[in-house]
Amino acid sequence: MHILSVIQVNSNYLKLKAGYLFPEIARRVKAFSGTNPHADLIRLGIGDVTEPLPSACRQAMKKAIDEMGTSSGFHGYGPEQGYLWLREAIAENDYKLRGCDISSEEIFISDGSKCDSSNILDIFGSHNRIAVTDPVYPVYVDSNVMAGHTGESGDIGRYQGLSYIPIDASNNFKAQIPDQPVDLIYLCFPNNPTGAVASREDLSAWIAYAHKHQSLILFDAAYESFIQDDAVPHSIYEIDGSRECAIEFRSFSKNAGFTGTRCAFTVIPRALKGQSDDGNKVELWNLWNRRQSTKFNGVSYIVQRGAEAVYSQQGQKEVKQLVSFYMENAAIIRDCLLKTGFDVYGGENAPYVWMEVPDQMTSWDFFDFLLEKANVVGTPGSGFGSAGEGYFRLSAFNNREKVLEAMQRIGDL
Ligand code: MLT
Repeated sequence: MHILSVIQVNSNYLKLKAGYLFPEIARRVKAFSGTNPHADLIRLGIGDVTEPLPSACRQAMKKAIDEMGTSSGFHGYGPEQGYLWLREAIAENDYKLRGCDISSEEIFISDGSKCDSSNILDIFGSHNRIAVTDPVYPVYVDSNVMAGHTGESGDIGRYQGLSYIPIDASNNFKAQIPDQPVDLIYLCFPNNPTGAVASREDLSAWIAYAHKHQSLILFDAAYESFIQDDAVPHSIYEIDGSRECAIEFRSFSKNAGFTGTRCAFTVIPRALKGQSDDGNKVELWNLWNRRQSTKFNGVSYIVQRGAEAVYSQQGQKEVKQLVSFYMENAAIIRDCLLKTGFDVYGGENAPYVWMEVPDQMTSWDFFDFLLEKANVVGTPGSGFGSAGEGYFRLSAFNNREKVLEAMQRIGDL
């Protein structure tokens, strides 16, 4: 007998445009490689690190594996919030040393900022007004679509129900404060994809706005370690008033090369409050703690020991070297593109260089052009939002030889 399935799917997924950006790029690159099997591709697309894990982290993880092989050092389920020794190391090094009032209790260890910045929606209701920049890290938008917080996407790919804040050369890639009240605002600085940064004054203005409208800022600081300019804040908590209006996402992926190892953290200050349907104030920390305790079993002991080693003297030295290495790549990319005559942004406090594509070309045209003519893979700006059309992102995450070769090929075009 033929039984028709009647299970209902989450129809919000059907509103999503095409594939997620990076798998879509991978699909196109695979198709190109299929017809050009001998092409020597250089990947400056997805921001995935290439350099080896710091030896301090590897040593710590090896030691942790050996501990796990003994009865006394074996670890089963860890705390869902992460081990206290890692949270304390983060609170001390990433926050107290920068004058931020963040305690270990307010830090939740996780397996990634991508997961946290989308999972965080679990603790919010479905009627918040949400603002994102355009261009934007696509996860913020897609996860809201999946959660049913938007309508359909329109002609230029923007979803009904979301407020978009354009950032482009005309406003110097500075996100303008909305003139309407919004409830949740996603900000990412140093910015993915444009590489722009937010000054203390910029963040102060956002915090004043959030206080005025009782909004919450979801601040993605995954690229903070790439900041070279001492005046640029690394954390939103360096700014007064942020404890009452901001959640911060941080990651070990890019500074310590943990994209494949997986460790990150999210900070939820105890001062943050939302409102229940009956109008009572509710601590966001309690909700996130409840969410994590139910849906997450923590990051492995071994990986957390690896992350802890980032804060050792040796770890700090190695992480600084890694960051410098990628920032030298970024400088090489910037210089080459500038010499070739492109308009170039970013790449000075972020591992992403954002360039304008030649006239008459779309971002995807330029993607195909670079792929075919130079065998270099980048990321089309329009993949990050309609205001990214006309731009293209090159990532500084690759080895030196490949970056130099890619720039040589682009210069020769
Ligand atoms: C990117 O290329 O934008 C990054 O890989 C995003 C991420 O870290 O998920």
